[in-house]
Amino acid sequence: TSPILISPSILSADFARLGEEVRAIDEAGADWIHIDVMDGHFVPNITIGPGVVKALRPHTKKPFDVHLMISPVDQYLNAFAEAGADILTVHPEAGPHIHRSIQHIKSLGVQAGVVLNPGTPAKMLDYLIDDVDLILVMSVNPGFGGQSFITNQLRKIEAIRKMIEKSGRDIRLQVDGGIDFTTAPLAIEAGADVLVAGTATFRGGASAYAGNIRTLRGG
Ligand code: DX5
Ligand code: ZN
Repeated sequence: TSPILISPSILSADFARLGEEVRAIDEAGADWIHIDVMDGHFVPNITIGPGVVKALRPHTKKPFDVHLMISPVDQYLNAFAEAGADILTVHPEAGPHIHRSIQHIKSLGVQAGVVLNPGTPAKMLDYLIDDVDLILVMSVNPGFGGQSFITNQLRKIEAIRKMIEKSGRDIRLQVDGGIDFTTAPLAIEAGADVLVAGTATFRGGASAYAGNIRTLRGG
C-alpha cells in the first residue's frame, strides 16, 4: 500500500509571514503544500490568488496542491499553473463542464484533481475517474478552517477507494476538513492516502509542526 502523505493547509498559517511558514512546514516534513483559493462567491470566504502562489514558489520545492474554490474556475487555470501549481483541484459545481476543466488542467502539464463536497455523491466520479490524478473528499463544507469532521464522509472514502482499485489507475485519495489526531486514523482506515490538515498542523507554533505532522501520518 502507498505511504500516507500530509498536505498542510496554509489557511491556518500566519498570513503576515507566509513564506517563512511554508519553509517551516517543509522542514517539518510536509509532503505537499495545500493552498486554499477562495473567491467569496463559490464559498463564503476570500483568501489567496495566483500572485501569492507565485510569491511562495521560491520558498519550497515541495509540490503545491492548489484547491480551487472559485467559480467560474476555467478562466483562472492557466494563471495558477503559471504561478507554480503542481496539482489543481476543481469542484464539479464550479463550472459548466467538469470533464473539460480536467482536460484543460492536464493540457497545462499539471496534475488534475476533482473534489466532492459533503453533499456530492461518489457517483459523480463515474466518468471522471479515467482522467483524474487525485480525488479529494471534503469532510467539511468548504470555506473555513477549524470546522468539525463530518463522519459520514468516511463511507464515501471507502466507496471511492474501491472505485480506484477497480479502475487500476494510480489515483491519490485525499481528505480535507477537520483532520486531527482523532480523525486522521479513521480517514486512513477508510482508504485515504493524502491528509490535508490546517488547524492540526499549525497548532502550537513552529516548534510543534514536525511532531504534529508525524502524529497525523500515524507516528
Ligand atoms: C476548507 C479548506 C480546508 C481547510 C482545512 O474549505 O478546503 O483545506 O483549510 O482546515 P482544517 O484542517 O482546520 O479543517
Ligand atoms: Zn482545502
